Amino acid sequence: MNHLVAPSILAADFANLQRDIELVNNSEGDWFHFDVMDGRFVPNISFGFPLLKAVKKHATKPIDVHLMIVEPEKYIKEFAEGGAYSITVHYEVSPNLHRTVQAIKELGCKACVAINPHTTVSVLEDIVADLDMVLVMSVNPGFGAQKFIQHTYKKLADISALKAKYNPNLLIEVDGGVDNSNAHKLFNAGANVLVAGNSVFSAADPLAAISQLKHA
Ligand code: DX5
Ligand code: ZN
Repeated sequence: MNHLVAPSILAADFANLQRDIELVNNSEGDWFHFDVMDGRFVPNISFGFPLLKAVKKHATKPIDVHLMIVEPEKYIKEFAEGGAYSITVHYEVSPNLHRTVQAIKELGCKACVAINPHTTVSVLEDIVADLDMVLVMSVNPGFGAQKFIQHTYKKLADISALKAKYNPNLLIEVDGGVDNSNAHKLFNAGANVLVAGNSVFSAADPLAAISQLKHA
């Protein structure tokens, strides 16, 4: 099964963004992870459409857009047009999740649903067959460089069971506190895509950090 690494732009040096984008282009990383925060769903504000366009201009790899915003359905068209490969919306802010998932697919993007640490996997049972990917938050969303929550492994077991039952092609992404100490165990527990911000961009050698995650 796939073992993908998605370095998170949130941890890049914004004053040297082109340099950091090219670093990922030239790395063993597979995707760019792009965290959009609105100061409402999460207690932080990050960046939005203009930055996506700037990243898209230089990125040679797919951009995995993670929307940590309320009413994500209002903005998915603009993110798709801005160059998103995949669009992730949170279960917690999506009362009409099925409609939003269909809309993401109609825009030509991969559809992903994220769940916060407190959200039980079973709420995805009736949507998992429609998804390309599920994102399991392994920290509370809003900030980079937080401590990995160990309960994530239990959730990976639960989502792997749903995957086996309803959607064998489903990708499982883990986001938050991922580093060289847990990457191997996460892949073994069923994760296919590891997002990594701090452990890549704060490393002395980010290329080596990406490579280690890729081969964990
Ligand atoms: C957290 C974001 C993450 C973040 C991960 O709310 O969704 O994608 O960039 O950062 P690290 O890897 O530093 O925990
Ligand atoms: Zn993220």
